[in-house]
Amino acid sequence: MMDVATYQLLDGRRCSEALKTRIAHEAAEVKAARGRAPHLAAVLVGDDGASRTYVEAKVKACEAVGFRSSLIRLSASTTEEELLALVDDLNRDAELDGFIVQLPLPKHIDPDRITLAIDPRKDVDGFHPVNIGRMVLGQKEGFLPATPRGVCELLTFYGIPTAGKHCVVVGRSNIVGTPMSILMSRNAEPGNCTVTIAHSRTRDLAAITRQADILIVAAGRPEMIGADMVKEGAVVVDVGIHRIEDRSRKSGFRLLGDVRFAEVAAKAAWITPVPGGVGPMTITSLLQNTLKAARG
Ligand code: GUN
Repeated sequence: MMDVATYQLLDGRRCSEALKTRIAHEAAEVKAARGRAPHLAAVLVGDDGASRTYVEAKVKACEAVGFRSSLIRLSASTTEEELLALVDDLNRDAELDGFIVQLPLPKHIDPDRITLAIDPRKDVDGFHPVNIGRMVLGQKEGFLPATPRGVCELLTFYGIPTAGKHCVVVGRSNIVGTPMSILMSRNAEPGNCTVTIAHSRTRDLAAITRQADILIVAAGRPEMIGADMVKEGAVVVDVGIHRIEDRSRKSGFRLLGDVRFAEVAAKAAWITPVPGGVGPMTITSLLQNTLKAARG
């Protein structure tokens, strides 16, 4: 017999549409007050197909909420010095509120050096050590990293209680797993979780993930989380997104997350789809951060 699906969808598209309505309203207020709409620039180095798709989605989202946007494309052979010079220009550009440099960068460019060169007041990705530090200290002035912020917004939108819950974060990257674990443990809403961070060296991962009331997976491994690794009634957030070759599709690929959606959904109370879960939320957080930068 088929499992009867009882899960509810954490629908990132629906949540981001609701948030974008508010952002558009506030962008109009900023424009009326200072005569200039919020302005985000995105820098894309090289020609990675996935990165291009993400950056174009970010630019399109700006247009939808009445922001100005600039897409700066550089060739894969751009040197680190050239990129640092561009970052310096963008830092000084008085017409620009915030900007991002899309990752990953070509191998010959050190992403830490680039991130460190970005003015923290324009770092709407929230990657600069000053913004990471502010997040850890719970200071309100900084920018939260876009993807973890988006996950928090999604949990808030659907009224998911988090206080006192056991949150397991799988993955410890600088841009998702590590900041996510900090946000879920802070004394805030959402937050107040007991947090476990699991990673590639964790022993008996399934024994850990099965303890999760809230399971956030950002491991970067297609479909690594199966139903046997999830507790009945858990809230499951899948940050992974992978392009898997699929010749039967017109695009030539299909998208998979880090979670085997169909089997895990049968056990979960709430779950994000891929695509349409965390992805749209990352973009919406970027807009929220840009609006905050524009407000100064
Ligand atoms: N690559 C994957 N996710 C992100 C993100 O949120 N920001 C940037 N700049 N690059 C990314």
